[in-house]
Amino acid sequence: MSNDATAPLIRVEGLAKRFTLHQHDAARINVFEGLDFEVRPGECVVLAGPSGVGKSTLMRCLYGNYLVDCGHVLVRHDGREVDLVSATPQQILGVRRRSLGYVSQFLRVIPRVPTLQLVMEPLLENGVAADEAECRARDMLGALNLPEEHWGLPPATFSGGEQQRVNIARSFVRRYPILLLDEPTASLDAGNREIVVRLIREALAEGAAMVGIFHDEDVRNAVATRTFEVAQYRAAA
Ligand SMILES: Nc1ncnc2c1ncn2[C@@H]1O[C@H](COP(=O)(O)OP(=O)(O)OP(=O)(O)O)[C@@H](O)[C@H]1O
Ligand SMILES: [Mg+2]
Repeated sequence: MSNDATAPLIRVEGLAKRFTLHQHDAARINVFEGLDFEVRPGECVVLAGPSGVGKSTLMRCLYGNYLVDCGHVLVRHDGREVDLVSATPQQILGVRRRSLGYVSQFLRVIPRVPTLQLVMEPLLENGVAADEAECRARDMLGALNLPEEHWGLPPATFSGGEQQRVNIARSFVRRYPILLLDEPTASLDAGNREIVVRLIREALAEGAAMVGIFHDEDVRNAVATRTFEVAQYRAAA
């Protein structure tokens, strides 16, 4: 493939996903089929469509969490494309460590690890020295207005919005070439939403490619470069 700086960082080809509910007489829910799209550097593609259309399902397929029934999810990683549909778990972990970030609505981290350490982790994993990692983690937590007395504590007892900011800090403390955003501002107040919008726009300006779900219209309008209607690939029942 081309190494052109504008080449897509993520490409989806002919993706089909259905769920089979084994506890319910193997009932099938066909979510989408033949789904194609690509995202280039600097683009933020917003997944749109009514509740139940398959936005979250598509996002999980893009992160390699779901097995799919057909198609490819091609992610640019170390200068080549890796198909997450056929990649080994080891390859998927490598892609997630360096190339593909994910901000979910909920913070899922190892229990009992202090917040500052959690935010330093993605940097340490990528070879950043401990003192620099600490400095950058402190800056990021400060920028997101997380009170400093929280930094030494594990986030389990934090409020919803505080936990979400820890999540955002972990994902923006380093630059992922591709970032998946699933309602990253859902539990934030207006001031913190604006800060997250700024972080997203800065990353886009530096060439990140993003796919997002945003129920908040103001946030959506502030970051979307394009809308993708999932319903156009609705599968036959
Ligand atoms: N793990 C699962 N097992 C079985 N069916 C599922 C599963 N996850 C989603 N579905 C079904 O797939 C369809 C798409 O669901 P999905 O959560 O992707 O919709 P959505 O577009 O994200 O909706 P919302 O806007 O309400 O979050 C729905 O009909 C849902 O019932
Ligand atoms: Mg959803």
